[in-house]
Amino acid sequence: MEIPEVARELAGKDRIGVLFVCLGNICRSPAAEGVMRHLVEERGLQERFDIDSAGLYGGHAGDLPDHRMRVHAIRRGYGLIHRSRKVRMSDFDEFDLIVAMDHSNYDRLRDMAPTLEAQRKVVRMIDFVGGYPQCDCVPDPYYDGAEGFELVLDLLEDGCVNLLDTLSV
Ligand code: 4NP
Repeated sequence: MEIPEVARELAGKDRIGVLFVCLGNICRSPAAEGVMRHLVEERGLQERFDIDSAGLYGGHAGDLPDHRMRVHAIRRGYGLIHRSRKVRMSDFDEFDLIVAMDHSNYDRLRDMAPTLEAQRKVVRMIDFVGGYPQCDCVPDPYYDGAEGFELVLDLLEDGCVNLLDTLSV
């Protein structure tokens, strides 16, 4: 696990905005949003965090998360009600940290970033994951079976704890 410096620098800030990003915003990033919201609420930190998610592909805009993602998430206690939306240029201003699920998401976000400061806000989810050395990203489960969705949740539960620990010290 290599926690990015930009995340450590946010620790102690009054209000922190975190945007999770994947391709479609119907599987991985809404699940990340759900896991993170759950942790934030569990710790009573709602006043300190703005949590949202978005996708680089806008084709599912307005949709609820994929049914399979919702089924796997609710079994672990995460009700996913986010409506898919595309990443906007204003996100680079509004959020402090933009967390990419895979390397393609990361590269595209870094390319889109309007300033160097905005580019620094883009980090990889996997950098916060401690327990899965075999994974180098949060893989797209869209064409996988149930085990793909379970792996996404395993990675996100691990990573979101470390992310929140880093930001909330
Ligand atoms: P996500 O999964 O990026 O985790 O939301 C995907 C969902 C839809 C598509 C690709 C990935 N799609 O191409 O429609």
